[in-house]
Amino acid sequence: MPFSKDFSWGAATAAYQIEGAHDADGKTPSVWDRMVRWPGKIHLGENGDVACDHYNRLEEDLDLMAEIGLKGYRFSFAWTRILPEGTGSINEAGLAFYDRLIDGLLERGIQPWGTLFHWCYPVALYAKGGWLNPESSDWFREYSAVVAKHYGDRIQNWMTLNEPQMFINLGHDIGVHAPGLKLPPSDLARCVHNVLLAHGKSVQAIREHASLKPRIGWAPALGVSAVDPEYASDPEVVQHAKEGQFHFNPDGNFIANGSSIWCDPVFLKKYPDGFVERFEAQLPKSWEADLEMIAAPIDFCGMNVYAAWGQHTRDADGNLSYRHENTYGEGFPRTFFGWPVTPEALYWGPKFFSERYNTPIVITENGMSAHDWVSLDGQVHDPQRIDFTARYLTELKRAASEGVDVRGYFHWSLMDNFEWAEGYKQRFGLIHIDYATQKRTLKDSAKWYRTVIESNGASLDA
Ligand code: FCB
Repeated sequence: MPFSKDFSWGAATAAYQIEGAHDADGKTPSVWDRMVRWPGKIHLGENGDVACDHYNRLEEDLDLMAEIGLKGYRFSFAWTRILPEGTGSINEAGLAFYDRLIDGLLERGIQPWGTLFHWCYPVALYAKGGWLNPESSDWFREYSAVVAKHYGDRIQNWMTLNEPQMFINLGHDIGVHAPGLKLPPSDLARCVHNVLLAHGKSVQAIREHASLKPRIGWAPALGVSAVDPEYASDPEVVQHAKEGQFHFNPDGNFIANGSSIWCDPVFLKKYPDGFVERFEAQLPKSWEADLEMIAAPIDFCGMNVYAAWGQHTRDADGNLSYRHENTYGEGFPRTFFGWPVTPEALYWGPKFFSERYNTPIVITENGMSAHDWVSLDGQVHDPQRIDFTARYLTELKRAASEGVDVRGYFHWSLMDNFEWAEGYKQRFGLIHIDYATQKRTLKDSAKWYRTVIESNGASLDA
């Protein structure tokens, strides 16, 4: 079987996107609570104050997860529910919420997969310089230790950071996500190092404090370089794609947005060529020694994969070339977000990553937004999501059958939710949320996913 018998079929969410209860029971603001009050930053000026009200509807949501038959549920902890000042005193009410969540999952036979940081950074620490502060990695270590100590008797699967590419690139370079900064490359390089070191210290803290033997990974954002199907067996084109996937240009724009800038230090204990040469003055004197900590061994690489943003191919003259998806023209299949439907991303991505980094893979996010609504019959019919997911899973299955060690797949998302700068415009859920009434409706895709899970992926061939 390409999917092992303990394959983790799951769905994913993040605290700020679903919980609501933004100031309940001692929680303090994160940079996202601030960002949503910045006029013009969020579509229609929406915010996550209530979101899916998951904080108050936990039991109902747990029952729906069980109804879908999930084996795993990936969620994130809101740092400021647990440590309102970011470090220091612990808020018992915050801990109690995730106790209820984790215990409720385990009672239903669903494995909790906990992410420590999915973007809701404490304002109290942001005010001290956030990721620019050399102490930021110690703050994250402290928080990780508190969480691992408290829940490490029940959680086995951990992820340190969600998508460092996005919270640094979109949040600190382009400024469209919290905290909304536009920093120069020199400062971004400092952030990159501090974030990586925070990951390494977090891994160490989890291993030290969790009483169940942990399996630790992280969930970077991985835009995949794919191969034009016509040239799938042309080794030069495949090699070109692989080099494109891991290319790093220290003088280019968006230095924090690639694959190798984040994954080479973690898995290969080195920065990609050119990074240190260009940014050494910004790095702490200890940068080389820090790499030991950054590369602390982990058990899997999570991959958040939505699309291949281009294809490696040959041009009319037979030369190796790259075609960006924005040249595919009208009529190319796209999600409501406009992202290209490119299932081969779940073949080439896991393949390239497992070859370069020699690590088991877990697909920690994959899914699509669509213009879903409740039909006259009271159901939510979302055939595109079913087709999308079937195509992507079929490609993942192909990778697995060729020997790529894939351990799990988490659909983004369990439920429609607050999609950051897009507000509530993009519906990614297996469960439809009526935001006015908070009524939940399982979409057709959720019922279809249940059959995929029950058959361990065999129904994909039917
Ligand atoms: C990823 C994020 C996740 C969600 C999806 C659509 O970049 O990790 O929170 O917004 O995209």
